Amino acid sequence: MIKTDFSSGNLDGSSILRSQKSVGDLEKYWLNYDPEKSEHQVYETQSWFCRPDGTEGAVLWASTTLFPGTVNGEFFMTRGHFHTKPTHGELIVVASGHGILALCDHEGNTENISLKPGTTYYIDGSQAHRTINTGEQPLIFWCSWPADCGHDYITAAGFTRHTNRQESTERNNL
Ligand SMILES: [Fe+2]
Repeated sequence: MIKTDFSSGNLDGSSILRSQKSVGDLEKYWLNYDPEKSEHQVYETQSWFCRPDGTEGAVLWASTTLFPGTVNGEFFMTRGHFHTKPTHGELIVVASGHGILALCDHEGNTENISLKPGTTYYIDGSQAHRTINTGEQPLIFWCSWPADCGHDYITAAGFTRHTNRQESTERNNL
């Protein structure tokens, strides 16, 4: 058992891994990287590895706090990834903040879903997924996924970048 603070995204207990990503960590993901912002924190994850990563049949649980901000007009975002097992989906529950869930399949078909507090979404395992904070407050959400889904960050690295542009999302009122 662990303690889950739904609103803050905080997990307290054993087997919890905390990780941070800065603008510099995501250097290759931005359309126009700004080295002067390299130390700015983009997001933090707290993951409960109740079973080892990769365990068949297990599920894992994590929060992400995605901070507001931009890099040359591009909203702060998570890296995004495909699951290497396309039959393995994922649940995402939004605690607070506003943003976009950007989806993309292997054929390049994209879909943007507006994220709002108190809503839950199912991500099909065949779609790459990335979250984008288009608001002025942290976007805090929870995810649960099969421990053996596998993560492919390389193939997904360039997907739907255009949807992350500030002017694009404002124009589409997302
Ligand atoms: Fe995932």
